[in-house]
Amino acid sequence: MDEIASRVLQNKKVSDSYHVLTLGVRERLTIFPGQFVQILCRTPGETTPFLRRPFSVMDIRGRAMDILYKVIGPGTARMSEWRPGDSVSILGPFGNAFSIDDTAVGPALVVAGGTGLGGVHYLVRALKSRGVSVTFVYGVRFRRETAPAVLKSLGVKTEVVVEERSGVVTNRLKKMALERFRNCFVCGPTGMIRATADLVRGRIPMIEVSLEEMMGCGFGICYTCPVKKRTGQGYYRACDEGPVFREEMISL
Ligand SMILES: Cc1cc2nc3c(=O)[nH]c(=O)nc-3n(C[C@H](O)[C@H](O)[C@H](O)COP(=O)(O)OP(=O)(O)OC[C@H]3O[C@@H](n4cnc5c(N)ncnc54)[C@H](O)[C@@H]3O)c2cc1C
Ligand code: FES
Repeated sequence: MDEIASRVLQNKKVSDSYHVLTLGVRERLTIFPGQFVQILCRTPGETTPFLRRPFSVMDIRGRAMDILYKVIGPGTARMSEWRPGDSVSILGPFGNAFSIDDTAVGPALVVAGGTGLGGVHYLVRALKSRGVSVTFVYGVRFRRETAPAVLKSLGVKTEVVVEERSGVVTNRLKKMALERFRNCFVCGPTGMIRATADLVRGRIPMIEVSLEEMMGCGFGICYTCPVKKRTGQGYYRACDEGPVFREEMISL
């Protein structure tokens, strides 16, 4: 585990409650789509928020790393106060990654809800650069939370489902010819992941989900991120064996 970034380059509000934090990273950093970092949301010497907070890497652009975050509590509120030039402590990368080097990756359906946009952004760009046709369906609760500039930067066909107007993402998925996709990648709240997996199971051959479970340490020692195994007994650790899982491996 390494300190991979130490300075804020930009911290931009992109919608009602979402921000994109851009950090300067050290040279030759290798991060794969699906991995996450642990952000210290306090300055050295302070005691709260004590634990680092996990965030997906939204994108890597040369020596800049983007993180999409929603302000929901003390840690993210502190992050929203950071200004260009501020010193920060970011550890990572952690966790596994989406399976995109598999030669079987074909037309892909990518589904995200809320902060899950940060979890799939880099994935969508990586799929696109490999020539994979991507359809992206994004669910957000309120229209004011939609971040148009972030969605546009993906450069793929995107359908935004605003819950207050059109209901949940699966309403839209039910109207799609799901059998034409070879892969389905999902990230967001557990309820959305479960409903999406239930709908696409048996219709799309490969389904991978990325979980935004609550975490303590983030690197496998505290066991506060259990994910129940689908078969057999026991649990995976979302931070270590995950956060990306083949859908059939886990019980949501
Ligand atoms: C692998 C991973 C990737 C993530 N990626 C992103 C990302 O790209 N963008 C983003 O905005 N957030 C992401 N999250 C969630 C992010 O870690 C939390 O929003 C953050 O820790 C909240 O910190 P806080 O101090 O502001 O709020 P807290 O005080 O920690 O939490 C405020 C409230 O939200 C609840 N809460 C906190 N974290 C979660 C969670 N993970 N799931 C459900 N409820 C929660 C708490 O119980 C509490 O009620 C990710 C989480 C994980 C595990
Ligand atoms: S967060 Fe500590 S083991 Fe996963």
